[in-house]
Amino acid sequence: MADALGTQAEIGVIGGSGFYSFLDDVTEITVRTPYGDPSDSLFLGELAGRKVAFLPRHGRKHHLPPHRINYRANLWALRSLGVRQVLGPCAVGGLRPEYGPGTLLVPDQLVDRTRSRVQTYFDGEPIGPDGRVPEVVHLAFADPYCPTGRAVALAAARGRGWEPVDGGTMVVIEGPRFSTRAESRWHAAQGWSVVGMTGHPEAVLARELGLCYTSMALVTDLDAGAETGEGVTHEEVLKVFAENVSRLREVLFDAVGALPATEERDCLCVPAHALP
Ligand code: ADE
Repeated sequence: MADALGTQAEIGVIGGSGFYSFLDDVTEITVRTPYGDPSDSLFLGELAGRKVAFLPRHGRKHHLPPHRINYRANLWALRSLGVRQVLGPCAVGGLRPEYGPGTLLVPDQLVDRTRSRVQTYFDGEPIGPDGRVPEVVHLAFADPYCPTGRAVALAAARGRGWEPVDGGTMVVIEGPRFSTRAESRWHAAQGWSVVGMTGHPEAVLARELGLCYTSMALVTDLDAGAETGEGVTHEEVLKVFAENVSRLREVLFDAVGALPATEERDCLCVPAHALP
């Protein structure tokens, strides 16, 4: 197990649709977890003097649909390498006409509309290095994203001339289908900003493990309720994500370099019951 190998990475990046590699000089390692296998190998490298682990969320060949991703294994694998801060770029649909393709939104809120996903480590099973069965845990999750990570991501985007949307609500649907027009209009009418398929349970599992988690939502399409055409297609999502991946990579490079050292984190992302 990678746990035995000590800190190999301090920052994790989980790449989204169309984002399958991050750094050039990487060491590929296989990590197994008590929850099964992560989406792929983890790719370890160094950037701006920081040790980084990259994991392609859907697998490097994009073989995993959103509802089949083993989110628990992914976050656990990153943590077992020493990762304590995670940047999670993802593809989303815009729910407002002004959030068209190419918009980068750093959400501050999340709505879960998924149905079938395991969304906790605290389900009565032993957890952690000592194999203890924890008491029932009800996580405080009012603010799902790390405030420091959000500020760093926003500054990094601005520094690269990409004016991001600061805040907004990401609604996460089960998928793999896209929303109907009626669902999409309803999401927009709630005041939600963007819609995706992978932001949950990634954020909550990260919080359960005491990881700082920052979502970086790249709009690849206007969702069905916000446009008048045929509706979004998977090909469109992949194409727009691929078109933006190099500038997203640059923003991530800068963000990685600007995140605080693990021991200097002063946010509230580490809950009282966090693992040692
Ligand atoms: N990911 C990218 N575009 C999306 C959309 N319109 N709905 C849900 N997930 C998406």
